[in-house]
Amino acid sequence: MLNIKDNVIEEVSLPRRQFKMLEKELFLYREVSSTNSIAQHMARSGAVEGTIVLSSLQTSGMGRMKRQWACPAGQGILMSIVLRPEIDVQLVPQLTLLCGVVVAETIRQTTGCEAGIKWPNDIVIGGKKVCGILAQSSFTGPAPLHVIMGIGINVNQTYDQLPLDCRKTSTSLKLELGQRFSRLRVLEQFIILWDKNFKSFLKGGHSYLRPKWIANNVTLGREVTINKGNELRQGLAVDISERGGLIVSFADGSTEEFLAEDLSLGKAHYGQKSRIKALKK
Ligand code: BTN
Repeated sequence: MLNIKDNVIEEVSLPRRQFKMLEKELFLYREVSSTNSIAQHMARSGAVEGTIVLSSLQTSGMGRMKRQWACPAGQGILMSIVLRPEIDVQLVPQLTLLCGVVVAETIRQTTGCEAGIKWPNDIVIGGKKVCGILAQSSFTGPAPLHVIMGIGINVNQTYDQLPLDCRKTSTSLKLELGQRFSRLRVLEQFIILWDKNFKSFLKGGHSYLRPKWIANNVTLGREVTINKGNELRQGLAVDISERGGLIVSFADGSTEEFLAEDLSLGKAHYGQKSRIKALKK
């Protein structure tokens, strides 16, 4: 009987197109279980930094918190990048935040639409999710061996093509702007911006990321409900920490850092505007 690992080994050798774009190795599949699994396997077999795995369709697309990521064939961007960053382990979770910045800027530059980051890993337009990011790291010792950055962008889905249970909370670029977009064009812009930002992040770390993340986020200054274990906590999102956590202040005056929890956004606190402004400096 084949186990999942064997399946991935078989899948990696499925027919695919291999080409170079902007000096990156790209592997384009028609259908795989998950581009993250393929990229993970390629990384273990020595794939070079920046290798990109794309697929028109995923049969078991993975989301955070063991959720699924569903997208009809050819309507979205389903990709995973192999990263081999030589950075302190503390900076690894911030790669997800960096990727959020790059996706938000890519959407703005290719469509003119304002997309914002909902901490930690969603990109939203008008409060609806248009992109999700799933980073998976493999460590040996203190340095990251490799990180797989999985990105799903809803590009040309119609309302009926969104998963039934997400139709109220998700969207696509086409739904927001009333026209189809070239996935290739979006991908190219993403790669250009990723390269530039990734290089700068490797040099500058959190100090590079912070102003960019703050400029692109739609989380700070909002009431948030955080799902921690079985407990729902409500507070105000006030800052991101040095390690990319979300700092939330509570009614009793306490503040807490959250590292990877699920959250929902509530109303904006205009009374806190000056406080948030001060944080942006
Ligand atoms: C989330 O919002 O929960 C993260 C979704 C990440 C989906 C992308 S699609 C390409 C890559 N391959 C996967 O299996 N997942 C990521």
